[in-house]
Amino acid sequence: MTMIVAGVMSGTSADGINVALVRFANEPAGRPKSLSPRKNRRANCTLLAHEEYPFPAPVRRAILGMMNAELARVADLARLNFLLGELYAEAIAKAARQHRVKLDLVGCHGQTLYHQGTPQRFLGRQLAVTWQTGEAAIIASNLRVPVVSDFRPADMAAGGKGAPLVPFLDYLLYRDASLSRIAQNIGGIANLTAIPAGASLDQLIAFDTGPGNMVIDAVMEELFGKRYDHNGKVSASGRVLDHVIAQLLRAPFFRQTPPRTAGREEFGREYVGRFLQLCQGSSKPDIVATATALAAHSIANAVKQFVVPKFISPATSARRQKRDHQMIVSGGGAKNPTLMSMLHDAVAPLGISLHFSDEFGVPAEAKEAVAFALLAHETWHRRPSNVPSATGAKRPAIMGKISYA
Ligand SMILES: Nc1ncnc2c1ncn2[C@@H]1O[C@H](COP(=O)(O)OP(=O)(O)O)[C@@H](O)[C@H]1O
Ligand SMILES: [Mg+2]
Repeated sequence: MTMIVAGVMSGTSADGINVALVRFANEPAGRPKSLSPRKNRRANCTLLAHEEYPFPAPVRRAILGMMNAELARVADLARLNFLLGELYAEAIAKAARQHRVKLDLVGCHGQTLYHQGTPQRFLGRQLAVTWQTGEAAIIASNLRVPVVSDFRPADMAAGGKGAPLVPFLDYLLYRDASLSRIAQNIGGIANLTAIPAGASLDQLIAFDTGPGNMVIDAVMEELFGKRYDHNGKVSASGRVLDHVIAQLLRAPFFRQTPPRTAGREEFGREYVGRFLQLCQGSSKPDIVATATALAAHSIANAVKQFVVPKFISPATSARRQKRDHQMIVSGGGAKNPTLMSMLHDAVAPLGISLHFSDEFGVPAEAKEAVAFALLAHETWHRRPSNVPSATGAKRPAIMGKISYA
């Protein structure tokens, strides 16, 4: 049975809501009796359209404020949950109306307010926790369409870090018998899925490389009062402070063996404060260029340390492997030419060529939204969609909760 699913994402940048309208074909009618083996399944789907709706400035300020767990008030958190439910519903309705589609299902990631993927001690217990907000009951009720939401906890209940969840889509889109590929998403945080040539789903390497646009956006806000460095113009006019990059890359996070996850907890306000201190006395464009280089170099370093060694099989000479790897970039960072040129220069020596997910039929800014359409579709059919090799989960899990219309 064909299904049209809206995938909805709003990431740690808190820049806005991405809605992908995706059609899935050829599902066997009825519920599968057992969990289907996921190896070698292709993403049997078509992206019909993608729309992006920026958050109004006061909403963005409220979201960023409430990511600060120390200061947020519980009443405001409850209000934000319902407000986001309304905003998601409006965004989805608008996209569906514009493209004249009738939705069968929504998969809404929600807005992460807190994510701590590694267990820490709390009231005498070791707990890993996560929290995405945006009330799915409101979305389901306003749209009269069932909604899958709250994707991460099921993986954590199975012992995983609850992230990353996009590797499931990356695998279906990019696996190749002879090419090793890296799907590199650059949102607020940058994360990758490495798919060695001929790999099965349980051989993926996926983790957060570190900051993506988060530090760039924060210094643009601080120094220029702007949300981001539009088309990389400011960074293009600056010079990278190499000594700052060298010092920052020595931080324990960048040496931490994957799986690992990051968020505003690691690269948010406090981190940016320290970053600005290190850059003190330099020109504003140099500081933005350095924040941009931090994203490029932390990605390249992670690839060099943790990915390339797994790509080079001892059977093949290093010479023959050269230029055999591709990095396929998605996320808002793909729109920043300065960042892309720095990333190109940093990964070229590793024998990696740079591509955009657009070449593979998924616009860079739409990929994560498409992923949550896919995950919702899997959940609707009672199939697991976490990737234990990526999250560290002990077993496959069916992700999310369903709110019926
Ligand atoms: N034209 C552009 N030029 C430079 N940066 C851009 C551009 N468009 C988007 N970005 C960057 O991408 C970010 C949003 O990326 P996104 O993939 O939506 O991240 P998230 O998943 O964290 O919301 C913006 O905050 C901005 O830094
Ligand atoms: Mg975004």
